[in-house]
Order: sequence, then C-alpha cells, then structure tokens
Amino acid sequence: MASIKKNDWSEYFQITKNNPPSKLLVKALKYVVNKGKAIDVGAGALKDTRFLVENGFDVIAVDKSDLMAKEAKEIKSENLHYFVSSFADFEFPKNEYDIASAMYALPFNSPESFDLVFTKIKSSLVKGGIFCGQFFGVHDAWSDDKMMTFHNKEQVEKLLSGMEVILFDEEEKDDKTANGTPKHWHLFYVIAKKF
Ligand SMILES: C[S@@+](CC[C@H](N)C(=O)[O-])C[C@H]1O[C@@H](n2cnc3c(N)ncnc32)[C@H](O)[C@@H]1O
Repeated sequence: MASIKKNDWSEYFQITKNNPPSKLLVKALKYVVNKGKAIDVGAGALKDTRFLVENGFDVIAVDKSDLMAKEAKEIKSENLHYFVSSFADFEFPKNEYDIASAMYALPFNSPESFDLVFTKIKSSLVKGGIFCGQFFGVHDAWSDDKMMTFHNKEQVEKLLSGMEVILFDEEEKDDKTANGTPKHWHLFYVIAKKF
C-alpha cells in the first residue's frame, strides 16, 4: 500500500494514480442511501475521489500534499472540490456528508489530534452516513513512529461509538508496501453507519 517515505508521497502517488478504487470503499458504497456528498480524507492521487465522482457524488478531497491538488486540476468536474490541508486544520462541516472515506490515511495523523479529527469526521456525517477506512494496529511494523497513530481492537471499537458497525475486520500479514518493500501489516478495516 503505502510508500515507506511518509513525508514524500510522490512515488506512492505515481504508483497508485491509475489503480482501481479501494475494495473497502466499493463495498461501503452499497450502504449509502443517498448519493449526495462525499469526503475523501487523505485523498492521495485521487483514485477513490474519481470513483466517487463517477458514482454521482459531489466530492470533497482533503490531503496535506500539494501533489493531490496537481491531480485534482486534471479532473475536469464541477463535482470535485479539493483542499490542501492537514486533517487537523481542515474545518469539517457538521451533518454534511453521506460518506466519509479514509483509505490508508488516518493512521498518518499524529496521536495528539487523532481523536479530535475522528470525532470531527463522525460529526461531518449525516444521520445514516457511512464511514469507511482503515486503522493501523499496534503490531504494525511502523508502530514505533511517534508521528503516526496505532490502535488495539478495544480502542478502535471505542472510536466507533455512536455508530452501527457494519464491517470490522482485523488482519495481520507479512506483505509489501505499494513500492514492493516488505512490511508487516496490522490493520483494522471498518465500515460503520452513524446513528
Ligand atoms: C497512504 S496515502 C493514501 C492515499 C489514498 N487514500 C489511497 O488510498 O491511495 C496517505 C495520504 O494521506 C495524506 N496525509 C498523511 N497525513 C496527513 C495529514 N495529517 N493530514 C492530511 N493528509 C495527510 C498523504 O499526503 C497521503 O496522500
């Protein structure tokens, strides 16, 4: 999935730019009742944003990397709006989105602001709105990185308070990052609906 250069996403963007949308997002879309507004949190090279636009959503893409803006300028759609911003600085509106997709993104937020960011994401959803995304587990190979956030199962469950959990899968595997570097992954895949 991710490049191991966590402050330079250029290689990752290049590799993922033309990838198909995330399987978790495709699955989550089945639970979205109204295809109105979506937010792609940590949108990267916009593979999922593009998919959401194609599915009729008005999409907000948020990412702290300027490279995201470069990709966004290539997509000629009035249904795409993009913001180069950290998650912590982004002003999430309340009760706005039918789906918030955060693919391999939130763990790159530091622990200091993680809970607040996630609370804001939840409150940005309309009632019945869907969150989908991954959290990284404490056994992940990157878990000694103090700029990132890792959770155990109970902590992820606690984050999802006020939501109906539709999918909760924990996975540990020895696999590779997007650029082929071997890595031990510890992941929680989540789809949840706001009450
Ligand atoms: C592993 S990439 C995932 C990108 C995309 N969601 C995908 O699945 O291909 C993580 C993305 O999160 C962005 N990112 C990391 N930390 C961030 C933060 N604190 N605020 C905003 N964006 C951040 C990076 O710039 C990068 O584009």
